[in-house]
Amino acid sequence: MIQHNSVQKVIDAARIEEIVRDYVDLKNRGSNLTGLCPFHKEKTPSFSVSPSKNIYKCFGCGKAGGAVDFIMEIEQYSFVEAIRFLAKKYQIELEEKELTQQDRAEELEIQAFNIINQWAQEYYKNKLWNSQEGKNIGLEYFKERGFLDATLEKFGIGFAADTPSAFTQESIQKGYNIDYLKKLGLTNSHELDFFRNRIIFPLYNQTGKVIGFAGRVMGSEVKIAKYINSPESTVYKKSKTLFGLHLAKNEIRKQNNCYLVEGYTDVMSLNQAGIENVVASSGTALTEDQIHLLKRHTHTVTILYDGDNAGIKAAERGIELIVKEGLNVYVALIPDKEDPDSFIKKHGYEGFQKFLNTEVKDFILFKIQLLHQESLNDPVKRSGVIQEIVQIIAKIEDTVKRSLYLQNAAKILQLPESTLIESCNNYIRENLKNKSFAEKRKTLANDEKIIEDQKEIGFKKQNQTFLETGDEIHEKELVRILMLAGNNPWKNTEFTVAHYIIENVVDILEYFDNPFYAMLVQDVLNKIQKNESVNFNYFVNHPTKHVTNLAIEFSTFPYIYSENWESKYGIFLNKKSNGTDYIDDEIETVIKHLKFRKFNKVIQNLDKQISENPNSEDVIELIKAREEIKKIKNKLFQEVWKIES
Ligand code: CTP
Ligand code: MN
Repeated sequence: MIQHNSVQKVIDAARIEEIVRDYVDLKNRGSNLTGLCPFHKEKTPSFSVSPSKNIYKCFGCGKAGGAVDFIMEIEQYSFVEAIRFLAKKYQIELEEKELTQQDRAEELEIQAFNIINQWAQEYYKNKLWNSQEGKNIGLEYFKERGFLDATLEKFGIGFAADTPSAFTQESIQKGYNIDYLKKLGLTNSHELDFFRNRIIFPLYNQTGKVIGFAGRVMGSEVKIAKYINSPESTVYKKSKTLFGLHLAKNEIRKQNNCYLVEGYTDVMSLNQAGIENVVASSGTALTEDQIHLLKRHTHTVTILYDGDNAGIKAAERGIELIVKEGLNVYVALIPDKEDPDSFIKKHGYEGFQKFLNTEVKDFILFKIQLLHQESLNDPVKRSGVIQEIVQIIAKIEDTVKRSLYLQNAAKILQLPESTLIESCNNYIRENLKNKSFAEKRKTLANDEKIIEDQKEIGFKKQNQTFLETGDEIHEKELVRILMLAGNNPWKNTEFTVAHYIIENVVDILEYFDNPFYAMLVQDVLNKIQKNESVNFNYFVNHPTKHVTNLAIEFSTFPYIYSENWESKYGIFLNKKSNGTDYIDDEIETVIKHLKFRKFNKVIQNLDKQISENPNSEDVIELIKAREEIKKIKNKLFQEVWKIES
């Protein structure tokens, strides 16, 4: 594991323009550089690099970030991989953290698992192509189903013979550890082969490592399971795997669309027909983790499920999840009891394209279509459908997108848009209310975890909900200063602005309305406690994408002061300066405003405690504390509103 200060060294050394130049031809334009975006197809350059801010932003596709982010995107690396890549480029030696005994054991196990999975794949592949049964039974089976050799090779398909323990025996002979074979599920507890008389589909992670297997029976015996799967292990997590992603990711990015199908053979068939931006959720319900994987490559998912009842149900669940994660969703159901595999084989590539052209629909249209025209004339049913649609739209966190969907829905449903907006806002309030603060505020306390954990930590773009409270605006302002000016010296002292801010807000952190902002402040606090500094580069290259996005937002959209805010929220901010040149007393003002508001909440909280336990021993202490805070609050009040006492 990489030491944190090494990570920061790399982040500070990396110059965005130098890194982008390796991939994009950049031309000077004013203080920025521009070129053709490497993330989407374009003819005129909308990709811009700002050397002074050390960030890139594409005004075409919206991708933006710092150096680490750019490498993650373009090389499809994890955060840690990108850091290693950049360290090499800038010849920075990375200090590795001492691993604990347990970490080391885990790492060794993962290495062993990878080696064994690799071996097993070779073994089964070899059996398919080179053994008599493999050729006669396995290859024959695929040939009959219309699969070409090249497709089988592309997907690394194999064959397990109908022998009790041929694989296990050979593995042991070659020196592979039986315990690991068992843990990976390749060998069962009786030391017999798990996969027998089946064709083998290797399961890969998105970087193309084999992490497990699925085996399909070749006949149509009904007595045994059609597919059996490797059990979960430290390398294979079913809910985090999408079949075919390692092959599809480049095409998904190029098309900015991913077809989502149910089965392995669906993915293979579409690939064979030349449609490569396709992955399978593998039968089970789509998971949030799978959507996060897709989100790294595209904004759009097109669900192609079977048109039976189960398929429709699965599509509906999928829609809700995908929409919630901020992606665009289109749907088409494959008719006549076919699946994409059989459909494309029956109707050919042309037929399939025609099907896509006529049947792929926006999810709103899809939902409406599910109800017959007659039931849409039934006012009760109709209102039910409308509520369902609005409920889904309410889960979209991007305000712009949400209003576009509402517009669209209003048009299709022939309803006034205002009705839908109102109903949507009710759902949003409901959703927010139902989330507990604790649930939302997981802390970024553990750095290693952040770096290892690419998951978006469950924090969605809180800053984009339009129900931003007055407090949140202040909280955001504080975070803006932390990000843009945190590393500046504080009033000619040896301390930084970040020190000053943290010292002042640490006690009110738990009263933050927006858990995402609270988490960011907590993150800075942890750094400072470890004597590490935080600068803009740190945020713009943060492993959590929401943090990067916020940093980009702050640095690319100049702060726009609204007169209205002054009367509405009592905000007096940043009138004199812009960018990173915060003036000390502006920072003080922001903090005072925030503290004033939060102290009101602290006092309310104390009031509640006092009235709930009037006879408790602590009550005197509580009352004292309340009076203390009231005094400070009153002082703040005078300072904030510039009232002479
Ligand atoms: N599946 C599974 N276990 C099963 C049945 C299905 O894991 N017992 C998963 C597989 O990923 C499969 C997908 O669900 O690919 C869809 O199932 P199904 O439609 O039954 O299979 P197909 O993919 O269509 O496979 P084939 O065309 O070979 O019948
Ligand atoms: Mn099928």
